[in-house]
Amino acid sequence: MSDRKNIFTAPPQIPNQLIAEVEGVAVYMKREDLLHPEVSGNKFRKLKYNVAEATSQKRQILLTFGGAYSNHIAATAAAGKLSGFETIGIIRGEELGEDLEKTLQENATLKFAHSCGMQFRFVSRSQYRKKTSEGFIKDRRKKFGDFYLVPEGGTNELAVKGCEEILTPQDAEFDVICCAVGTGGTISGIINASEEHQQILGFPALKGDFLKPEISRFSKKNNWELITNYHFGGYAKVDRELIEFMNDFRSNYGILLDPVYTAKMMYGIFDQLDKGYFLKNTRILAIHTGGLQGISGMNELLKMKNLPPILM
Ligand SMILES: Cc1ncc(COP(=O)(O)O)c(C=O)c1O
Repeated sequence: MSDRKNIFTAPPQIPNQLIAEVEGVAVYMKREDLLHPEVSGNKFRKLKYNVAEATSQKRQILLTFGGAYSNHIAATAAAGKLSGFETIGIIRGEELGEDLEKTLQENATLKFAHSCGMQFRFVSRSQYRKKTSEGFIKDRRKKFGDFYLVPEGGTNELAVKGCEEILTPQDAEFDVICCAVGTGGTISGIINASEEHQQILGFPALKGDFLKPEISRFSKKNNWELITNYHFGGYAKVDRELIEFMNDFRSNYGILLDPVYTAKMMYGIFDQLDKGYFLKNTRILAIHTGGLQGISGMNELLKMKNLPPILM
């Protein structure tokens, strides 16, 4: 279609950045956060083949789901605007729709998505839980027409295919690849693209061990493990220690982390380093999966809790 623009052309090749060398263990970071100013990190990878599929199916609308601070909502809104699609976001929390002006003033993620032209439908938490049911989708099709459905967090087969492009042949020199885990799509792509000698460590941002079957659904290798004790109390929960870690990380290495995913992963890697978990001469590659748009929203919450802000 002539009004479609492909923003997912070959992304820049950004050299991996050395972060630390501790007792013979080297930690590098892959700066996927620098892939694109608005569709960054794993969102670039996950949306690439989904947007291509929506284009080839000649759909006009991308419809997706997310919470009020969702990186995926912000990225889908931007990708839709830049690629020439209308976008609809089904957002958890019907109270957010009561006074949209106020919501937009208070929520940088939704403000950004709205500025990209995304239309919102705010639904209750119980409705949101039904979002994958046939009835819910059928109702939405009646209302909005024949949209292309992008799942919550963007994870599906095509997203995993995109995430298989995170690792390059040059990354074969690393022994351990680390990545943050939410729905499991990103780590699945990394596992699929990994070499036999590599171990993939996932750091879930959520409590619980329910991710294993999801990852096994998308990836057939078993050179991976989840390190489950760095969720800091659960999804989007943070404490003073994590914020101080992020602010120190920024001043030491000049790299901003996001509070929901990459900060917890880096904290976990450094803690495991301190505890001697990695063998001498191990070369670690940590993937920076982006998510920096969420910092403003988190800072609003931190203000209410009398906690220090994340420095930007
Ligand atoms: C910045 C960031 N990093 C990591 C993840 C985890 O990715 P996945 O949901 O594919 O496990 C997400 C969520 O999509 C994310 O927004």
